[in-house]
Amino acid sequence: MQDYQKLRIRDGFTNSGNFDNPVFVPAPNIDTIVSLAKRRGFVFPSSEVYGGLGSAWDYGPLGVELCNNVKQSWWRWLVYERDDIEGIDSSIILNRLVWQYSGHEATFHDPLVDCRECKTRMRADKLEGYFPEGGSLVAFDANARLRAGYVKCAQCGTTNLTDERYFNMMFRTTLGAAAAEDDPTALAYLRPETAQGIFINFLNVQTTMRRKIPFGIAQVGKSFRNEITPGNFILRTREFEQMEMEYFVKPDAEHSKLVDEWVELYLEWFKGLGIDGANLKLHEVPAEELAHYSKRTVDIMYRYFPERPDAERQWEELMGIAYRTDFDLRSHSSKPTDAEGNRTNPDSTEDLSYFDEATKQRFYPHVIEPAAGVNRTVLAVLMDAYSEKTNDKGETRVILKLSPQLAPIKAAILPLAKNKPEIVGMAKAIKRSLQPVLRAVYDDTGGIGKLYARQDEIGTPMCVTVDHQSLEDEAVTVRDRDTWEQERVKVSDLVEYLQKRLKPYPIPVPESL
Ligand code: GAP
Repeated sequence: MQDYQKLRIRDGFTNSGNFDNPVFVPAPNIDTIVSLAKRRGFVFPSSEVYGGLGSAWDYGPLGVELCNNVKQSWWRWLVYERDDIEGIDSSIILNRLVWQYSGHEATFHDPLVDCRECKTRMRADKLEGYFPEGGSLVAFDANARLRAGYVKCAQCGTTNLTDERYFNMMFRTTLGAAAAEDDPTALAYLRPETAQGIFINFLNVQTTMRRKIPFGIAQVGKSFRNEITPGNFILRTREFEQMEMEYFVKPDAEHSKLVDEWVELYLEWFKGLGIDGANLKLHEVPAEELAHYSKRTVDIMYRYFPERPDAERQWEELMGIAYRTDFDLRSHSSKPTDAEGNRTNPDSTEDLSYFDEATKQRFYPHVIEPAAGVNRTVLAVLMDAYSEKTNDKGETRVILKLSPQLAPIKAAILPLAKNKPEIVGMAKAIKRSLQPVLRAVYDDTGGIGKLYARQDEIGTPMCVTVDHQSLEDEAVTVRDRDTWEQERVKVSDLVEYLQKRLKPYPIPVPESL
């Protein structure tokens, strides 16, 4: 039995119909978040009117705000608050040669197998028994293991599986109106990572921004992978968003130590978003599982599956921090040659090397790459923020304890009586005055209890209630989402009061207010 279930039963409901001593329960599984997300306008199944599209999701009014807030927090943290990182936004469709020389055309593939019994198609390397236990992984023969019956179908458990074959995960498209579907000269790909757009712009950024090494380039945007087995809501989809940063350092820098430093920084950033450190752990990627460009990768894992009895299977990658060496800059450069003296990249017109004025040396910078997913961060944030508050009568309220910086709506302005024009007018005026400073909404579509409950469920940190007394004393009641405590605040002090509560990212007040 899972911990959260034990908690429910053990603590029982000993109160008497109120929420004075509530029992808090965290998100028991991803399905709970799927249901909340749909019910409250965070995430909808995509193309639902046509029966949906497997593993595609649309972000609703609250979901898009939450995603934007995660991306803004990341951008502010790296690009604004540090002095050594620039931002860019490169094209999604790049010259096909980018993917040829990055190695993606040749190696960005997963092994897939089909089950002969239940006809399921699966990623072979995710199946039980695929890797030999304890033996060397470097030269193991996957097909020999498949034929000998070591590997089990994830769906029906049989070992009657086909040989594995490789499947390139890049989405193909054709460029130009006249191009035939199979015209190789028109072939292009949707990018499977945002990183390559950074590498090919390395010199543009370095020279225009007069940067000296070490410095970084950050980019956030959509990436596309034709995943064999997408699933688990927004955890693994074919279209997703990445927040990637390439940090360029000297060839003789302490690369492994830098990886550790970025791991620590990201752990702090995730905790700052409200994620409990107990739900994060590190995974040193074994040498034989490293991507073709990586010498070392550490994944930060999140406990997306707390309901799984096997503790090892509760975790999935939230992000990875890789030491990419000088692989990419060198691959895209015109000058490097092979043992026979031939150019390794005869198509490139640029040399992406860097001249160090201090040492008078020219070299290809090495790269430390923290690569995070927006969608996986949003899912982790939602799972960690989710809590249920239950009283002794079994009445349950969902409270989304989002960090104020991430909450889609910062303050809801609620009139106590919607049939009283003076109260409604005052509430709407307060909403308008707050809007330039923070995201506020006005809502009068229910009784006050219902309105509070709705705002708790979507994570609004503060509710501002305008009542009869407000018309006399020019003050309102501000209710805290987490403690349900209420405070009377003068309307003239409201902006300052709310801003203090929205720390750590106070929003500047425009001169006009
Ligand atoms: N440039 C390096 C790179 O792309 P990655 O580990 O393949 O590394 C980085 O991807 C992050 O992007 C992952 O840790 C994950 O958060 C996110 N990501 C990757 N594939 C994804 C998918 N199919 N769906 C959702 N997020 C994904």
